[in-house]
Amino acid sequence: MKVLLLENVHPVAAEAFRRDGFDVEVRSGSLSEGELVDALPGVSLLGIRSNTKVTARALDAGKDLLAVGCFCIGTNQVDLTEAAARGVAVFNAPFSNTRSVVELVLGELLSLARRLPEKTQRMHDGIWDKSAKGSHEVRGRTLGIVGYGNIGTQLSNVAEAIGMRVVFFDTADRLAHGNARPVGSLDELLALADVVSIHVDGRPGNAGLFGPEQFALMKPGSVFINASRGMVVDDEALRDHILSGHLSGAAIDVFPTEPKAQGDPFESPLRGLDNVILTPHVGGSTQEAQQEIGSFVSTKLLGFVAAGGTSLAVNLPEVVPPPPQGAFRMGYLHQNVPGVLASINRTLADAGANIVGQSLSTRGEHGYVVTDTNVALPETTLAALRQSPEAIWLRTWPA
Ligand SMILES: NC(=O)c1ccc[n+]([C@@H]2O[C@H](COP(=O)([O-])OP(=O)(O)OC[C@H]3O[C@@H](n4cnc5c(N)ncnc54)[C@H](O)[C@@H]3O)[C@@H](O)[C@H]2O)c1
Repeated sequence: MKVLLLENVHPVAAEAFRRDGFDVEVRSGSLSEGELVDALPGVSLLGIRSNTKVTARALDAGKDLLAVGCFCIGTNQVDLTEAAARGVAVFNAPFSNTRSVVELVLGELLSLARRLPEKTQRMHDGIWDKSAKGSHEVRGRTLGIVGYGNIGTQLSNVAEAIGMRVVFFDTADRLAHGNARPVGSLDELLALADVVSIHVDGRPGNAGLFGPEQFALMKPGSVFINASRGMVVDDEALRDHILSGHLSGAAIDVFPTEPKAQGDPFESPLRGLDNVILTPHVGGSTQEAQQEIGSFVSTKLLGFVAAGGTSLAVNLPEVVPPPPQGAFRMGYLHQNVPGVLASINRTLADAGANIVGQSLSTRGEHGYVVTDTNVALPETTLAALRQSPEAIWLRTWPA
C-alpha cells in the first residue's frame, strides 16, 4: 500500500508507515487540487497538514484512498461530507498540542505577574528601572479557568503544582482535578480570580463571550489570558481595561482576524500596550507537539488499515473493535437505513458462519459494523454484501 505524506509531516509518521511495510512518498509542500488529482491514484493513505485542500474532485481521483490523516488539529481543509460519502475516513490529532498550550499559558501568567514584558522592553531601551512595584508571586493567588476541557484541566494541574488556587467554570459537568473548585457561573469566577484564562471551544455561541461587561466584573489588578479562539474576546474592550489600569496585564495568542501568510502585517487594538504579551497563534506550535501529532495520526491510520478501527475518526461512525476474536474479520460501511444489521447477520448465518464478536456504530447517514466470525466467509457471500444497495465498502482481515 502507498502512503503520500505532504507538508513536512513529522518524520516519525513516515518511519511508522515504513516499519509496517508501506511504500511512503514524502513531499515537503502542499498540493493544489489539480496536483492532488494527479498524485492520488494508487495512494491508500494521504497525510496532510492545514494547507492542502481535499475537495470532492480530489477524492474522486483517489479511487484507492482509504483514509486521510490531518497531521494537525483542524479538519476544515477536507470536505468531510464528501469524504464520508465515498467511505474515506478522516483522522486528526485533537489533543496532541494540549501540553504546549498549557506551558505557554503558564509562562505567560508568571511573566505578567512580574511585569516582564515591560521590564525587558525598558532594558532593551537602555533604562535600568529596578522596582518591585506591581510585581507579585502567583503562589496563593487564584486562577480562574473558563472552559475545563483538555487544556483547562491540564492547566489546572500545573497551576496547583506551583501553589495557585484554581476555580473553574464550564457549561458542561466536569470532574474537578486536584483541589480545583467548580463555580456556578462566569460572573462568580470573575469575582474570585486574580488570573482569568479562557479555554472554551469554538462553538458559535462563544463569539463575544468576553466583552466590556465581563472585563468590568474582573478584579482590579487582575490578569487576562486568551489562547482559545480570537472571536471569543472583544479586543477593544480589553484595550480599554488595560489603558484604564483596571487590568494589570494580558496575554493574547489568538485574534478575531489573523494574517494569512508568514510576514503579513498584523493589526490589533492591543498593539503597543504595556504588560501585554501578543503571540502569533503559537500556543500549540512546538517541536514536541509536531512529533506527538505525527505519532498520534499515523497510529490511527495504521490501526484503521490493520483492523478496521475508526476511533476518533471525524467523519465516520466510531467503532473501536477489540483485537480479532475469530478466524476472520469483516468491516462493512453502509448507509444508515433500517434492517442492515439483521440482513448482514442473516447472510452470515446462511453461509454457516458463527459470529464471535460484533461492534456497531452509526453517525448521521452512515453505519459501520465490524464482525468477527469463526470461519472465513466465502467470496460469494462477500460479493452479495458488497452488491447490496446500502453498501459503501466492505473489507476483510484474516486473523
Ligand atoms: N492557541 C493555540 O494554538 C491553540 C492550540 C490548541 C487548542 N486551542 C484552542 O483552545 C481551546 C480549548 O481546547 P481544548 O482541547 O481544551 O477543548 P475542549 O473541547 O477539550 O474543551 C473546551 C471546554 O470548554 C467548555 N465550554 C464551551 N463553551 C463554554 C462556555 N461558554 N463557558 C464555559 N465553558 C465552555 C466545554 O464544555 C469544554 O469542556 C479551543 O478553542 C481550541 O481551539 C488553541
